[in-house]
Amino acid sequence: MAPRIVVLGRQGAGKGTQCARLVDAHGIIHVSTGDMLRAAVAAGTELGQQADAIMKAGDLVPDDVMIGIVGERLAEADIMENGVLLDGFPRTPAQADALEAILADQGNELDAAINIDVPLDEVTARMMARGREDDTPEGIARRLELYEEQTAPLIEWFSARDKLVIVDGMGTEDEIFARVEGSLGLS
Ligand code: AP5
Ligand code: MG
Repeated sequence: MAPRIVVLGRQGAGKGTQCARLVDAHGIIHVSTGDMLRAAVAAGTELGQQADAIMKAGDLVPDDVMIGIVGERLAEADIMENGVLLDGFPRTPAQADALEAILADQGNELDAAINIDVPLDEVTARMMARGREDDTPEGIARRLELYEEQTAPLIEWFSARDKLVIVDGMGTEDEIFARVEGSLGLS
């Protein structure tokens, strides 16, 4: 069957890193809203032009825009067949409500939300070492602030729906991958 999994975690926690490994090992489709937006910026589409300054500042692209993009993507055949790893979405309570409604419309529901838990000082160090365009000290601080404000409450939201699994995100990528697979029942 096609699993539907939300991957939560602070900026720099290793969501993209672990999703890439899940894709390789289990063939689930990775949907990273950040990657989609960066591709739109690179291609110079209307969405990209709108998102560019927002992303550089570390702010959030408006909910209605993100919900539209993800809703369209979730209806595509590859995801229906292979399942999805949602990385970077939902990020606000409105996005979480919309995801629930989109899946319900499809007659589906979420299997799990996995929170990769990494402390603030470690994620900051990882992002400074990575050096993506939005990994400036100001951009990192703004993203982490918005995470606490808008995204951290979703941990409770998923927990209340009995979907939350927490994985310790400290250690080597291999160690964390073993924990991720184990917690999702994929190993
Ligand atoms: P997004 O692309 O989602 O960026 P982010 O939230 O800042 O998260 P990251 O991609 O930085 O973290 P990650 O957990 O994937 O870490 P990674 O695996 O790279 O979003 C970017 C922007 O797009 C947002 O700011 C916003 O403007 C917009 N946006 C996106 N989605 C949106 C939405 N839904 N609504 C509104 N706006 C939205 O790992 C980080 C580094 O650590 C890497 O260098 C990696 O190699 C390293 N690393 C990984 N694992 C380990 C380990 N175990 N030990 C040591 N280093 C490690
Ligand atoms: Mg990422």
